[in-house]
Amino acid sequence: MFTAERLTKIPPYLFMTLRNKINTAKAAGIDVISLAIGDPVDATPACVVEALVEAARDKANHRYPTDEEWGMLAFREAVARWYARRYEVKLDPKSEIIALIGSKEGCHHFALAVVNPGDLVLVTDPGYPGYKPSIWFVGAEPWPVPMRAENRFLPNLAEIPADVARQAKAFYLNYPNNPTGAVATPSFLNELVAFARDYDIAICYDNPYSEVVFDAERLSFLNAPGAKEVGVELNSLSKPYNMTGWRIGMASGNPEIIRAIAASKSNTDSGVFNAVQYAGIEALDRCDAFIDEMLAVYGRRREKVLALLHELGWRFEVPKGTFYLWVPVPSGYTSAGFCDFVFEKAAVVLAPGAAYGVNGEGYVRFSLTVEDDRLEEALARMRTGIGQVTF
Ligand SMILES: Cc1ncc(COP(=O)(O)O)c(C=O)c1O
Repeated sequence: MFTAERLTKIPPYLFMTLRNKINTAKAAGIDVISLAIGDPVDATPACVVEALVEAARDKANHRYPTDEEWGMLAFREAVARWYARRYEVKLDPKSEIIALIGSKEGCHHFALAVVNPGDLVLVTDPGYPGYKPSIWFVGAEPWPVPMRAENRFLPNLAEIPADVARQAKAFYLNYPNNPTGAVATPSFLNELVAFARDYDIAICYDNPYSEVVFDAERLSFLNAPGAKEVGVELNSLSKPYNMTGWRIGMASGNPEIIRAIAASKSNTDSGVFNAVQYAGIEALDRCDAFIDEMLAVYGRRREKVLALLHELGWRFEVPKGTFYLWVPVPSGYTSAGFCDFVFEKAAVVLAPGAAYGVNGEGYVRFSLTVEDDRLEEALARMRTGIGQVTF
């Protein structure tokens, strides 16, 4: 009686459902290992924690962080330095950058800022489950753009019907990609800018895994000539610095979109705790080596999972980005069916591909964000529990 109609469209958030399943099993005494959620268990860099503690002691930071509505200028300047150093992208911190409470919040405010009720919004399928609810919340409709293995999980923009492209107001996508691990190429980014320009589509390039890349070029959407004319890039300190709980990120690029996001945000939230922004500056300015250390950790875990999958009969093209592995399911299984099978035999939780969209059927996602010993235990159980598989 009190629930708004818009909520009826929105399925339960995937990871809440999985968390409930895990908690129920744990309550029944089962030692569950979750390889489903992408939430690093490793610690935030110590110097970032120190920066937070120091800033938290200063009472000047205890007030609303609204003096500088777009986030502290010092934080936005650190973002500009980070993009200049790591991507050779030049940004004006005063007009082209805004602080976010994480990239998920940015996805939501992008919709509020850019999309009108009744608009079509392109999203990749499979895709990050956060996009569609943001689109529904503003009364618009998502239009799924398929991503397929034969196109290395990049959308084929030429396949999008011209009448759909003409009606579309915006396009949400992310590379390195959650869930497939695929990475973008410079030529794809150029095509994306041309497509957005041709059809007047605002791009929301969500890039929280930009730093998690193996044997491939790190790319920002803003590297593509003309990108700033058509969209923004969201990024986040969550994944590169193990800061998922801290809730800090940034949107950068097109000044009109940044201004619109600011207008929406200033009427909704009051920004990021200043002490967290000071800690964010520390991470952005001084933790490049930490990113490399974590890449080595994920690289080692990847090799362990891949070695087991290979041993059990899997053959597939290994994705180059993110701390996920997107793995085809053996013959005879749906993605949910295979997850149930692995859960039953090994008490290991995987994320079912179908939860990411119809084109995710036939895959499961492994996350590498668990401790090494738990990962090894999960793999040992899978080795004995599921045995050889066929395709
Ligand atoms: C593609 C994608 N976008 C956004 C987010 C949310 O990131 P943040 O912690 O910055 O809100 C995630 C988290 O898993 C993600 O995978």
